[in-house]
Amino acid sequence: MDWGLKNRISRIIKPQNNRALMLAVDHGYFLGPTEKLENPKKVIAPLLKHCDSLMLTRGVQRMAVPATTETPMVLRVSGGSSIIGEDLSQEDITVSIEDAIRLNASALAMSIFVGSKYEYQTIVNLGKLVSEAERYGIPVLAVTAVGKELGKDARYLSLACRVAAEQGAHIVKTYYCDNFEKVVQSCPVPIIVAGGKKIPERDALQLTYNAIKGGAVGVDMGRNIWQSENPVAMIRAVRYIVHGNANVEQAYQLYKKLVNEKKNNPKQNQNQPNKNNPKQNQNQPNKNNPKQNQNQPNKNNPKQNKTKNQSQPKKNNSNQNNPQNVQK
Ligand code: 5RP
Repeated sequence: MDWGLKNRISRIIKPQNNRALMLAVDHGYFLGPTEKLENPKKVIAPLLKHCDSLMLTRGVQRMAVPATTETPMVLRVSGGSSIIGEDLSQEDITVSIEDAIRLNASALAMSIFVGSKYEYQTIVNLGKLVSEAERYGIPVLAVTAVGKELGKDARYLSLACRVAAEQGAHIVKTYYCDNFEKVVQSCPVPIIVAGGKKIPERDALQLTYNAIKGGAVGVDMGRNIWQSENPVAMIRAVRYIVHGNANVEQAYQLYKKLVNEKKNNPKQNQNQPNKNNPKQNQNQPNKNNPKQNQNQPNKNNPKQNKTKNQSQPKKNNSNQNNPQNVQK
């Protein structure tokens, strides 16, 4: 695999633990102003630092994301149909590779509609996109879109994921389902799971946990984060599972704790240092006394960055079960 391709993938799927937390905000490309995503700039701002990558369209990227961000962009390059049109599966590639490069995309995303009227067109487009993107070392995320008439069962999703991987997709996004392990086992590239429509927070955390346990590298979650009453608390709880190896109960407790903190101190933005009470800024590095920054990785001596909690599974041994350590 070429260096550039490897490097871009490693920005999306973290090599430390082979996990990924992608925040999806691309819904407007066929849904228009989706509920609670009417103003993408406002939605994205507080969440950006809590995700590993952001999945979006070029319109939203230019309009709503500061160009100074270090968060990698997964750029949706397919579209052409809307929710009120005739057939959602009639998609084409809508963004040139030149524009994707101008936007410094870390990956390109497009949907394939396996089993629907326009499957041929979308699958051929995927193959062509992979060929073009690979010329520039850019990975492609294939989204296995599910039409109204198609079920989200393991048989169908295995087929759709495998078709995507056979066309050369580097990562496949699909849905969680019963027997999800079967989908993962028959797909030769990493799978990332979509959140789907809004469900109660605890259920969305359960879905995240199940997906990871079933072999997904992570989630590409949208509505279950920004349609939550508490998006920052929710993304941090999801992150705690993806990167902190938390179980559902631990993540849900973190969610509730963050919600309560916000209720008790509504003026205090959960992400900002509290200038009036520096003692509350326990996650902030102490510039004056670096010795106190014991949760910060030691860039000069990586050997010193050993995790404290060794009773957790070895698979993901960074940041284990300490919600403060899973913050970016
Ligand atoms: C739509 C998409 C969305 O990004 C994807 O479905 C993830 O968002 P959500 O968690 O809201 O389902 O690709 O085609």
